[in-house]
Amino acid sequence: MILVTGATGTVGRPLLELLSARGEPVRAMVRNPAVAVVPPPVEVVRGDFDASASLPGALAGVSAAFLLTAPSTPNGDHDAAFVAAARQAGVERIVKLSAIGTGAVTPEGEVIGSQHADGERVLREGGVEWTILRPSVFASNTLSWADAIRHGRPVANLTGAGRQGVIHPRDIASVAATALTADGHTGRVYTLTGPESLSVPEQVTILGEVLGRPVTYTDIDPRTIRAQLAGSGMTDAAVRIMVNGLSYARSGRNDTVTSDVYAVTGRSPMTYRSWAEEHRTWFGTQARGSDAVRW
Ligand SMILES: NC(=O)c1ccc[n+]([C@@H]2O[C@H](COP(=O)([O-])OP(=O)(O)OC[C@H]3O[C@@H](n4cnc5c(N)ncnc54)[C@H](OP(=O)(O)O)[C@@H]3O)[C@@H](O)[C@H]2O)c1
Repeated sequence: MILVTGATGTVGRPLLELLSARGEPVRAMVRNPAVAVVPPPVEVVRGDFDASASLPGALAGVSAAFLLTAPSTPNGDHDAAFVAAARQAGVERIVKLSAIGTGAVTPEGEVIGSQHADGERVLREGGVEWTILRPSVFASNTLSWADAIRHGRPVANLTGAGRQGVIHPRDIASVAATALTADGHTGRVYTLTGPESLSVPEQVTILGEVLGRPVTYTDIDPRTIRAQLAGSGMTDAAVRIMVNGLSYARSGRNDTVTSDVYAVTGRSPMTYRSWAEEHRTWFGTQARGSDAVRW
């Protein structure tokens, strides 16, 4: 049995589908089974990182687990509780979703908060076979532009001309599916990117070509970003980390393309253009329901 956490999210949902399609027995851990939509025949179990007593039940009988902790987690506590419960349950293998830039420290400070650095550490020391996936920025992040595009407004460019190896979330899921089910990935850290490095202006151009109408952007300077985030109720630490990460990307330091998706799956990663073509209707004239599929 393979347990997938984050199963209703951007990466977890296609992972459920890929594993099911391979005939693997899969269980989705969700906080609210009554509202979770998962593809049959995936099992559903209740589990909440904020309620660690719920984890042993979710992990019973599991041989491999995909560990995805939500960005709101300030440190590695969720990973630590999960890894401890998994070891206790006899889980043999954990594949953790981390993030590119984990552990990198710039003159401004950490690029990614301590969440994934702490989480990676407890996993490496946890006594279970591990694989760490560090994806670059998700193509699906640009769904946040949909409302502006639908209303003919410019989208916000938070990273200037900085290029990043934008990745289709299904490629992340594909790597995870292989690492969970095939040998040879234990103790490996994969940096996952798409096939090309793109700036926001370049993504905007591609999206405009796919949609067949102009899409525009407006640059938001770091000082304004910081002020807006601070005014949104985020903690000072969260604002600092977010601004550091955006500055890292803006300066071109996240301009990285790797061959790890190909090395693990034997298939080239998908382009941002192909992601945009799949999601064209999201940028149309009608708003889409928030419960619809969005990867
Ligand atoms: N977006 C990017 O560009 C990017 C880049 C690199 C790395 N990442 C990493 O990707 C991860 C986010 O992945 P995603 O976009 O697939 O997530 P997502 O779509 O935001 O979904 C979050 C998932 O986490 C689950 N969840 C939230 N709180 C939980 C809790 N307390 N206990 C159990 N489950 C909980 C939710 O499940 P329910 O609500 O159904 O319970 C949901 O399935 C983060 O770790 C982030 O650091 C993101």
